[in-house]
Amino acid sequence: MSKYSLSVNGEMKSLDVVPDTPLLWALRDSLNLVGTKYGCGVGQCGACMVQINGVPTRSCMTPVSSVGRQKVTTIEGVDPKAATPLQQAWQELDVPQCGYCQAGQIMSAAALLKDNLKPSDADIDAAMGGNLCRCATYMRIRAGIHRAAE
Ligand code: FES
Repeated sequence: MSKYSLSVNGEMKSLDVVPDTPLLWALRDSLNLVGTKYGCGVGQCGACMVQINGVPTRSCMTPVSSVGRQKVTTIEGVDPKAATPLQQAWQELDVPQCGYCQAGQIMSAAALLKDNLKPSDADIDAAMGGNLCRCATYMRIRAGIHRAAE
């Protein structure tokens, strides 16, 4: 076990884990931030997406030892009141179906909108390509991003 200090959602958090522990499990098991989901565990689905320094990152493929002083943002750090335009659009358009992948979808969508205030369909498809949805809510995800960008 090794001690780490991570910047998560604007706060420094201490944890004691083996160095190759995926960030996903550090967040969920050590820090009780369970909004980030385990899907495939091999970097294929995007359910575990967080942001590191604002960049969408698969936490299942990110060892805790590689994070250092970078800023980790999880779905819990986006807005606890779910009042961002993106979260409002998600609610207004009933984007989720089962909901399991949606934290990861929001993390990728938020990163897109930070860099691109008016993304095209092609921009959205390119940015969201790493986030799979077994309920195939892709059209509502696209609509939600457009709504948030209005
Ligand atoms: Fe990380 Fe699927 S759980 S990409």
